[in-house]
Amino acid sequence: MQILVTGGAGYIGSHLVLALLRAGHDVRVLDDLRAGHAQALDRVAELAGRSAEFVRADVADVPRVVDALDGVHLVYHLAGSKAVGESMGFPERYFQNNLGGMAGLLTAMRQVGVDRIIFSSSAAVYGAEAEMPLSEGATHGPANPYALTKAQGEQMLAWMAERCGWSAVSLRYFNPVGADASGRIGECCAEPTNLVPRVLQALTGDIPHVAIFGEDYDTPDGTCLRDYIHISDLADAHLAALDALERPGHHIYNVGTGRPYSVREVIDGCSRVAGRPVPFVRGDRRPGDAPVAVADPRRFADDLGFRAERGLDQMLESAWRWVTENPRGYAG
Ligand code: UFG
Repeated sequence: MQILVTGGAGYIGSHLVLALLRAGHDVRVLDDLRAGHAQALDRVAELAGRSAEFVRADVADVPRVVDALDGVHLVYHLAGSKAVGESMGFPERYFQNNLGGMAGLLTAMRQVGVDRIIFSSSAAVYGAEAEMPLSEGATHGPANPYALTKAQGEQMLAWMAERCGWSAVSLRYFNPVGADASGRIGECCAEPTNLVPRVLQALTGDIPHVAIFGEDYDTPDGTCLRDYIHISDLADAHLAALDALERPGHHIYNVGTGRPYSVREVIDGCSRVAGRPVPFVRGDRRPGDAPVAVADPRRFADDLGFRAERGLDQMLESAWRWVTENPRGYAG
């Protein structure tokens, strides 16, 4: 099957492309390389023993996307901006890149008659007051422009399904962590803000220490709880989601493990994996952080038989391998 992956040169995209190639699909990647890396696709080709086609273009560029859709059966739409903090400072970038990008893609798909899509959404769509664990029907309340664009992207797909008979899936990612077991592809970002990349930077000496954002939450050790999922499990989840496209309509799934870990547990896990203590300091709460965000993963398991298999140690070991074997990311 010929598949288009937008954002396929990024962190999640490269792991997805690898999984799709290994499953025997023909893959075309559309990526403008603003956040993605062409080298990631070279390494994916090494690992898979064959390549994805690559088109360098912006997903909002309708004529280019129309060309890229030639022969395509379905689209995975991952291209977009994803830094919550940046979205608070520059909301318009998120409207342009995420909503403008989605509108461009849907226009091109409609034009050529491709009507199946799997969308990279986020647990960020849930409201702070939603009950834990988060089921797909939990209260919505996007707390930042990034989250708003994910919620609205989902709504666009609901309308395409309702009005145009499309099959669409929105996957609400929880916290992706780790790297392919080979150590050849991983997360490559100059100034990461997420917990695990920051902890690893503190271990390698790229930053003097990582700050724990709050130890006075109402959680067992006082630090926030999150549902971390191995990037390779997340990639596999995208393949499992293909079956949902057999049913018309818009289908929403949480993609998490249902098992939360605290910031302290993640830091302790990284120390274990690296064999030395993580330099950290106690910081203030980060504005906007929910104390707990954990998925109820049952709908995905019940409907599609998907369960994440890899545990925290595997996530952290693979992330550590990637960082130590590629100290300059894809640059060397
Ligand atoms: N944290 C620290 N120190 C750091 C970085 C993070 O203590 O230097 C803490 C945060 O306070 C939080 C936890 O580690 O409690 C996880 O933080 P991340 O920034 O790694 O992830 P978030 O849960 O804040 O955000 C992630 C994605 C978002 C997505 C959101 C959905 O990065 O894109 O999950 O729930 F919107």
